[in-house]
Amino acid sequence: MNNGRNISIGDISDAYTGAVGTLWEMVMGEEIHIGGSPATRELASMAGIGKESRVLDICSALGGPARHLAGEFGCMVTGIDATVAMVEEATRRTARAVFNGRVTFRLGNALDLPFKKNSFDIVWGQDAWCYVTDKERLIYEAGRVITPGGTLAFTDWIVTPGIPDEELDRLLEFMIFPYLETRAGYTRLLEKNGWEVTVDEDLSCDFALQFSRYLVMIRGELRPEIIRRFGDEFYGAVEKGIVLWEKAAHEGKVGRGLWIAKKTVT
Ligand SMILES: C[S@@+](CC[C@H](N)C(=O)[O-])C[C@H]1O[C@@H](n2cnc3c(N)ncnc32)[C@H](O)[C@@H]1O
Repeated sequence: MNNGRNISIGDISDAYTGAVGTLWEMVMGEEIHIGGSPATRELASMAGIGKESRVLDICSALGGPARHLAGEFGCMVTGIDATVAMVEEATRRTARAVFNGRVTFRLGNALDLPFKKNSFDIVWGQDAWCYVTDKERLIYEAGRVITPGGTLAFTDWIVTPGIPDEELDRLLEFMIFPYLETRAGYTRLLEKNGWEVTVDEDLSCDFALQFSRYLVMIRGELRPEIIRRFGDEFYGAVEKGIVLWEKAAHEGKVGRGLWIAKKTVT
């Protein structure tokens, strides 16, 4: 699938510098992905993260998962994110905790990673690559910086083939996603770029349930705070967007997948 909407990295960074990062933290917590901290723990054990692992978190946002991984598994984590405000806030929150330099953040683009080959044992991503404008290039870059035999572990939001263009466009517009991969599309990209896929899991049922939960939260406990901070108009747009996503998720048009892959060919 190609880049469907004309979204630039600047558009995404502007959004995450403004209300978007705050909104998603209110909904999902500082680990800004579906399933929060338990999802991070499960992905880490599937990826085999241990004390010696050098982990790269691509699109690390507030750094919640990076701190979680280093704190629970004792590994080293480098986070990379294209939004200055996210890198600064992740660094500030990490300084408050005791990580002894094991968790660091860098400003950079997933499509041009500022690292040499063989720099990491695990490349990691959670519900963020949906923002990346060229997923094949991202997967190529992940393969370039990982050590031979290293592991790629990620979850991402996906689309089902056959969704009407107009509906997809509305869903993408609300989230500021350039386009979404399909489940088969991600697996194809991985195999084409020298990754051996060991897990390719469909998490779409849970995705739909979580969206129903988010809608209840937005309409209930979070409503006053969203309106207070960002106004009625913003609240209205958010509610409308979540309604669209919840409906599409329950209709099986969008969902979420999880992949674990080993780098076989370097
Ligand atoms: C949903 S948040 C990531 C959440 C994070 N993975 C977590 O679980 O807490 C999306 C992040 O992706 C970053 N981002 C989007 N496109 C990027 C790119 N091409 N390179 C680096 N970061 C990017 C945004 O700046 C934003 O901070």
